[in-house]
Amino acid sequence: MESAERDAAARAAVREVKAGMVVGLGTGDTAERAIRALAERQLAIVTVATSQRSATLARSLGLRVHEPEQEESLHLTIDGADEIDPELRLLKGAGGALTREKLVARASQRLLIVADEAKLVGALGERHRLPVEILPFARRWTLARLSEMKLDPVVREGFVTDNGGVIADCRIHGDLTDLARALKQLPGVIEHGLFLDEASAIYVGRPGSVEVRLR
Ligand code: 5RP
Repeated sequence: MESAERDAAARAAVREVKAGMVVGLGTGDTAERAIRALAERQLAIVTVATSQRSATLARSLGLRVHEPEQEESLHLTIDGADEIDPELRLLKGAGGALTREKLVARASQRLLIVADEAKLVGALGERHRLPVEILPFARRWTLARLSEMKLDPVVREGFVTDNGGVIADCRIHGDLTDLARALKQLPGVIEHGLFLDEASAIYVGRPGSVEVRLR
């Protein structure tokens, strides 16, 4: 996909990376633009990827990719998002990498989100459903619990995450903090795509400029 705005946002965020850093690599089209921009800089860095797809791309471009077990923490992570609200809360997981993305984001001192204007929304859930990764074991019961919560789960049939999980795309309703908490209380739920506190900065590519919003 051609998008000068996404490229500009990715390049601006990548300028924050310095030699010696441990850098988290996001997943998706915009994150891949950042991975390419990072590789071009040829810095002495180590990376941790949020998906097999991003790890493969990074290695093919000459970046060093470590497993999470090799690193205590990360200096920063650059990732994309599906929706960004005015409070810098995110909806993520259209690519199905939300669990690893959240783990890597939480281990990072800073999470930089790269996006174009199309990702900005008034309220999360405006354009996308909420991806929820669930265990294949007893998925019928977990889907029943999600239905009882009036989340209307729709399974992405045939799609398996890097963790062997199933993605159920859900309706968003009610208070987001309450919803996030309720989802985490279900034993069959691995993770969900609400990133309410993680983003440190948003790089929004616009025609001719990049806007940076800080939390
Ligand atoms: C993957 C994600 C991505 O960050 C999100 O889907 C944005 O992707 P893209 O840059 O391709 O629009 O959360 O799980």
